[in-house]
Amino acid sequence: MSNDIFNATLIARHDLTPDLSVVCICGDDGVVPDFQPGQFVTLGLPRPVETIPALVEGRAPNGRLVRRAYSIASSPKERRYLELYVVLVEDGKLTPRLWNVEQGGRLYMDPRIRGEFTLGDVPSDSHIVLVATGTGVAPFISMVRTYRDCNRWRRCTLVHGVREIEQLGYREEMEAIAREDQSFVYIPVVSGKTVAEQTWTGRRGRVQSLFNEAAFRELTSEPLVPEDTHVFLCGNPAMIVDVQTILESRGFITQTKSQPGNLHFERYW
Ligand SMILES: Cc1cc2nc3c(=O)[nH]c(=O)nc-3n(C[C@H](O)[C@H](O)[C@H](O)COP(=O)(O)OP(=O)(O)OC[C@H]3O[C@@H](n4cnc5c(N)ncnc54)[C@H](O)[C@@H]3O)c2cc1C
Ligand SMILES: NC(=O)c1ccc[n+]([C@@H]2O[C@H](COP(=O)([O-])OP(=O)(O)OC[C@H]3O[C@@H](n4cnc5c(N)ncnc54)[C@H](OP(=O)(O)O)[C@@H]3O)[C@@H](O)[C@H]2O)c1
Repeated sequence: MSNDIFNATLIARHDLTPDLSVVCICGDDGVVPDFQPGQFVTLGLPRPVETIPALVEGRAPNGRLVRRAYSIASSPKERRYLELYVVLVEDGKLTPRLWNVEQGGRLYMDPRIRGEFTLGDVPSDSHIVLVATGTGVAPFISMVRTYRDCNRWRRCTLVHGVREIEQLGYREEMEAIAREDQSFVYIPVVSGKTVAEQTWTGRRGRVQSLFNEAAFRELTSEPLVPEDTHVFLCGNPAMIVDVQTILESRGFITQTKSQPGNLHFERYW
């Protein structure tokens, strides 16, 4: 297979665990397209040749690629590359191939950056609550990196739920920002029960344990009320449904194309 479908290079990778990595990608034109924090880019790698009827039929080169969406973790202020936060899905179609791409390796990156999962019209006097599981934290890292020190919110709370402590990517960076910035609260939550986690003194369980009034107020010094709060949910679709059910019962309205709301979500699958 010729390499003409590749238009980007993996310029750096940092492996947090054997199956969780931060990767930096740069297009061949050297230009990072403009984007808004919360948006995603699509990556592609070749499929096995035997699974490509379109290739046999001589159709579009895109048929040769397995393509998947990845939220951008870097800020648009970073003009050298796009940073992505990716987990290996062992029986997945793209990620096992991505794990074979070393530094300097080639891949396809869609030049169009897309997505509606942004702070958009959220008023700057809102309490913004960002809730992620796993790699769903990526778009929120871009938001925090971009909007901190910009008076973009009255308060911003980032809740990140993972199974193992070492899956708390960006923890040090977020803890440092929370120490410096009174308007930012970072709440890591660990669900696993392995020996390593016996040392975990932070919050345990699943993210929805925060959404009772007393726990929320204690951790954020704010009430959880729909009047001036916007909640963003990202990652595991089961988490999104569960938290959405809790918050809708408390008066939050899910934003849709036809209806403005204060509950926003991005499902990863
Ligand atoms: C808008 C959008 C943004 C996304 N951003 C990211 C991102 O920033 N980082 C990222 O790792 N993935 C992200 N994803 C998921 C990504 O597009 C792929 O689905 C994922 O990398 C698996 O691809 P695959 O071909 O290896 O597995 P597939 O063959 O597509 O298998 C999919 C299965 O893998 C599991 N899965 C998929 N994604 C995840 C995940 N992130 N965490 C845990 N389990 C998962 C689910 O069980 C799913 O059914 C995003 C998806 C969407 C729609
Ligand atoms: N099943 C496993 O033990 C396991 C372990 C490692 C990797 N994997 C596989 O590796 C890949 C990535 O896994 P991942 O750990 O990054 O992502 P994940 O499976 O989405 O889990 C991330 C976090 O989301 C939580 N979660 C799941 N369902 C939820 C719900 N309904 N409400 C709230 N929180 C919920 C998990 O808690 P819980 O721990 O309570 O589910 C965990 O803390 C996936 O393909 C996964 O199947 C699975």
